[in-house]
Amino acid sequence: MQTKKILVTGAAGFIGSWLTMRLLKDHPEISVVGYDNLNPYYPVSLKEYRLDMIGALPESEGRWTFVSGELEDREKVRAVFDEHRPELVVNLAAQAGVRRSLREPEVYLASNVIGFFNILESCREYHVGHLVFASSSSVYGDSRDVPFEPEQDTDHPVSFYAATKKTNEVMGYAYSKCFGLPMTALRFFSVYGPAGRPDMAYYHFSETWMSGKNISLFDEGRCKRDFTYIDDVVSALEQILLSGKSKELFDAMETPYRVYNIGNENPVLMTDFVRILSDSLIRYGALPTDFSLWDRVDLVGKQAGDPEITCADSSGLLNDYGIKPSVNIEDGLDRFARWFAQYKNGAKK
Ligand SMILES: NC(=O)c1ccc[n+]([C@@H]2O[C@H](COP(=O)([O-])OP(=O)(O)OC[C@H]3O[C@@H](n4cnc5c(N)ncnc54)[C@H](O)[C@@H]3O)[C@@H](O)[C@H]2O)c1
Repeated sequence: MQTKKILVTGAAGFIGSWLTMRLLKDHPEISVVGYDNLNPYYPVSLKEYRLDMIGALPESEGRWTFVSGELEDREKVRAVFDEHRPELVVNLAAQAGVRRSLREPEVYLASNVIGFFNILESCREYHVGHLVFASSSSVYGDSRDVPFEPEQDTDHPVSFYAATKKTNEVMGYAYSKCFGLPMTALRFFSVYGPAGRPDMAYYHFSETWMSGKNISLFDEGRCKRDFTYIDDVVSALEQILLSGKSKELFDAMETPYRVYNIGNENPVLMTDFVRILSDSLIRYGALPTDFSLWDRVDLVGKQAGDPEITCADSSGLLNDYGIKPSVNIEDGLDRFARWFAQYKNGAKK
């Protein structure tokens, strides 16, 4: 069978690994090349665990190649394109996280800006059919104008991380305009789920409680976040890459460039969030049944770079691709907690 090659950068990461598994399991006509530098921003063991899950799939046999490398290594990126000639590229590799970008902005400049430039250049040189890349809800800065619509102001980021994501969108648009490179930017809203990112609230809270410590709930728990379950994100990426609708859309456009939000359109108050999370962790034995939630939460002030509310208007995806995220926070956190309890139990043995 003639296979279609997809390059997934950040394939050892949370979203990249689940996307890779979906592509391999459900699309026998596809082979995936993963690219990732396995950096130690959070435990490398979790990135290796995800790569092991991919490698353990019978479907990965002969259809999965992993390349360890940096996005900012222009020659290495180019060599991957030259050897594998991907038809489609999904750029998920990036230095994520708002807080670190306030302390070490140069890491973000290297991975997210120089690295992204290298991806753009190789996509142009090797005539890639569609580049789909990760942007972020953080481009909306401190806006209280909810739900966030893709057309609204994104020129006032409140972190350097957000600035790099906005930079990607602008760089991408220029490449699409100047070279006709088809491109889709996806602004993710707090993606969560099994094997997720330890620096994100749900995972960090779970680990902190398990170690017997209290969590700090910023803005005294008054902020609201629009969360998106990992399977909904992976399904959206799958549709955008493979449904054929993107070609129809782009053929009708002068500049083949689209930007979408992907979020549940249902912001959750953080005090509700921690209640649902702790209930789920108790259900799977990761926390004891006598866990006393409000004794284990310290309500503290607002953090720099944190918006009060995030809420997506994801109607663009619905209109163009018929996609609507559907997993609610109770079900999503239940699935996370089940995985977390098993993972931590395995780690202790
Ligand atoms: N998870 C979310 O809620 C969320 C929200 C908004 C945007 N995003 C964006 O989505 C993308 C994927 O996020 P994720 O949650 O899977 O993060 P992740 O950190 O789990 O995955 C990113 C992967 O990229 C790799 N990487 C980082 N810098 C690299 C570099 N310079 N060269 C090669 N590899 C590099 C990392 O090792 C990691 O495995 C990122 O671009 C992130 O900024 C994620």
